[in-house]
Amino acid sequence: MNETQKRILALKAEKGALILAHYYQTMDIQEIADIVGDSFELAKQAKAAGQQIIVLCGVKFMAESAKILNPGKTVLLPVLDAGCPMADMITPDDVLRLRKEHPDAAVVCYINSSAAVKAVSDICCTSSSAVRVVRSLPQKKIVFIPDKNLGAYVASQVPEKEFVFYNGFCPVHNGVTLRDVLAAKEAHPGAKVLVHPECRPEVLSHADYIGSTKGILEYAAASGADEFVIGTEKGVAERLGSLAPDKRYYVMTDRFTCSDMKKTRLSDVLRCLETGTYEIQMTPEEISAAYQSLDRMIRVP
Ligand code: 13P
Ligand code: SF4
Repeated sequence: MNETQKRILALKAEKGALILAHYYQTMDIQEIADIVGDSFELAKQAKAAGQQIIVLCGVKFMAESAKILNPGKTVLLPVLDAGCPMADMITPDDVLRLRKEHPDAAVVCYINSSAAVKAVSDICCTSSSAVRVVRSLPQKKIVFIPDKNLGAYVASQVPEKEFVFYNGFCPVHNGVTLRDVLAAKEAHPGAKVLVHPECRPEVLSHADYIGSTKGILEYAAASGADEFVIGTEKGVAERLGSLAPDKRYYVMTDRFTCSDMKKTRLSDVLRCLETGTYEIQMTPEEISAAYQSLDRMIRVP
């Protein structure tokens, strides 16, 4: 532990704060977090939190989700402009237009979206819950927003439903190509290929396992293999390297970096605890409008 990490832990204890971090955060931040998780885990833990202050080391939609699920708590995001470009690709008006065009469909909204978009959706999902969420719905027709790649993956797993997609995507995952996965397989022919469903279908078609960041970590931990190509942001490979250093993990391409996730530094977390910046501010109306779709997701068995 370095000095800044020690000061963060002391201040966290003094203030009674809970620090949640996503797997894409740098390892020094993962080390000071109470809980490190995928988007689903972070939402669930935020809802269950006993602490009055939650520091969310991740991006804005994650901190907003924590606030929506926990309106009485103070939710802090250490870096104000840590956003998700995919979340900015769709507006509530786009969703309302889709609703008008497909009145018989359920609107399933990836958690990587704004609170206003969640508010006009029927239910949220994360990459680890999307298939379960879609299967749980009575409607045969699903409008899946905004990630076209996750949507196509879910459709492949739930062929009995009919899907309408939106043209959103993660610039980091969607930027990885068939060439990248083939090159990684050629360089590491004995490795298992573990890929996040935000990747393009042609990349997923070469995966041994497809799943959320948490799913990838669990698969690698349980697998008898000792070499893995990791098809998601490099924070996951770094965590694997620190949890099970006896195995080898190769990031599929060095373009697998989410610059928004990497904006948070230890000094930001320390300042956040010292000064209470930046607090997620939402009106009670914004919170209650978005609550249902997130809460429904968490309740899907
Ligand atoms: P997970 O829910 O798998 O952690 O994914 C979050 C994300 O932003 C992936 O790019
Ligand atoms: Fe958004 Fe992609 Fe970064 Fe995930 S990796 S937070 S989807 S930009």
